[in-house]
Amino acid sequence: MARVVIFSGAGISAESGLSTFRDTGGLWEKYRIEEICQAGCLSWNRENTLTFYDARREQLASVEPNAAHYALSKLQAKYPNDIAIITQNVDDLFERAGCKEILHLHGFLPRLRCEQCGTTHLIGYTKQERTFTCKNCGGSFRPDIVFFGEAAPMYEHLYEAMEECQFLVIIGSSGNVVAMDHFALHVKVSILNNLEPSNAINERVYTKVLHQKATEAVDEIVGDVERFLQG
Ligand code: NAD
Ligand code: APR
Repeated sequence: MARVVIFSGAGISAESGLSTFRDTGGLWEKYRIEEICQAGCLSWNRENTLTFYDARREQLASVEPNAAHYALSKLQAKYPNDIAIITQNVDDLFERAGCKEILHLHGFLPRLRCEQCGTTHLIGYTKQERTFTCKNCGGSFRPDIVFFGEAAPMYEHLYEAMEECQFLVIIGSSGNVVAMDHFALHVKVSILNNLEPSNAINERVYTKVLHQKATEAVDEIVGDVERFLQG
């Protein structure tokens, strides 16, 4: 189990050009969650949902990992047994920056999942063929994303990872969905990096708070982690 957990949200991908969810201009200002991300919406808004996720998937082809992804990849490569990367993001920017064994709590955009048997299928950045059916059971595919109102099965792995965690880093998450404050109370060191305070986060429980862009804060974060691991 890793001594350091790097937990991230939409904010770490913002400087790569992927919009966040609740910032000014965020996704939830442009789209209605119940139209595209609500459990059950596939039944009465399947077309909207598939179109939305096709567009998000195709957008991945036009963006690149940023300096924050690369700095964390270099840190993980230097301390492979000590750094766990957990993200709410469904993009593949950590993978493309060279990070390993990323835990995607809310699913993974380049992957589809059969609604009947759960078989997954990597389709990369391409549009989902509307007639695309599961070779295993003939069922229909959906984005392999956790929608609002659905259980998030990967959360148990978050709890497992946090059992051994001594140093928690949070980059680019407003805390509106996954509350991490209670974890920050139980580790030796915790760093929170967002652009600004969030109503869903009690910043007083963190050892250090950086209101900066992730690409500007990441070198300080990496330095603190390295000093802790070498200590
Ligand atoms: P939610 O916070 O109510 O979580 C739904 C379920 O996830 C809970 O019933 C629980 O099983 C689990 N869960 C959530 N937070 C947890 C925590 N801190 N500890 C342990 N288990 C926890 O979220 P929701 O509004 O019902 O949405 C479901 C999930 O789908 C959310 O985590 C949300 O972020 C995610 N989501 C992802 C996208 C996307 O595009 N990636 C879009 C919408 C929703
Ligand atoms: N550098 C660092 N932080 C940033 C940057 C940046 N360049 N840009 C934005 N942020 C911060 C904002 O300050 C905000 O706190 O990132 C956070 C983005 O918050 P949200 O948009 O709420 O994204 P996130 O926390 O990932 O949302 C959680 O909610 O809708 C669901 O499943 C979806 O995974 C998402 C979950």
